[in-house]
Amino acid sequence: MGIYLGLVACNQNTNHDSKAGVDSIKMESKSLLDTSEDCAKPTKYPNQDKPMALMMRQMADDAQKMKDKVEAGEQIDANEFPLIRFHLVEPTDPDVLQPQFYENARLFQQAHKAMMSVPANKQKEMYTAYINQCINCHQTYCSGPLKRIRKLVLN
Ligand code: HEC
Repeated sequence: MGIYLGLVACNQNTNHDSKAGVDSIKMESKSLLDTSEDCAKPTKYPNQDKPMALMMRQMADDAQKMKDKVEAGEQIDANEFPLIRFHLVEPTDPDVLQPQFYENARLFQQAHKAMMSVPANKQKEMYTAYINQCINCHQTYCSGPLKRIRKLVLN
């Protein structure tokens, strides 16, 4: 599974100019969604999971590893934990692809960059800001995993 996820992420990186990022994403105008819990339900047919859901799982696994390292005072870097461009791939529910979603993804991307560009003694603070961006987006678009994400907050 881990290897498969890696491939998904790599393919995305090669298919898109790495500088393109969130800024160039075309905005779509759709009305705001009700908060959806569906996205967190374990699925019966894992092979039908959409790429965005798979990337999110990878991000949650990565964040757990980052948390352990940050708490141990070890440096984390973008080679080990690259930015995952989930906003470029298909979600389970296409209605999430709204301007606010892309704005949240942009803020998330900034927080990732900031976290990776500071020395180990500043990374606790930056990691907290990073996880807050997960929470920020999930409060609007996918509240189910919030319980899991809150466990990624530093002790
Ligand atoms: C810009 C919005 C946004 C940000 C930022 C974001 N998420 Fe998500 N997340 C979503 C959406 C939308 C889904 C539903 C994806 C789908 O089902 O295709 C999701 C799904 C998930 C899931 C459930 C995946 C599954 O098994 O189906 C987890 C866990 C998750 N996110 C964790 C995280 C973590 C951890 C972070 C931060 C490191 C994060 N998310 C950042 C929007 C976001």
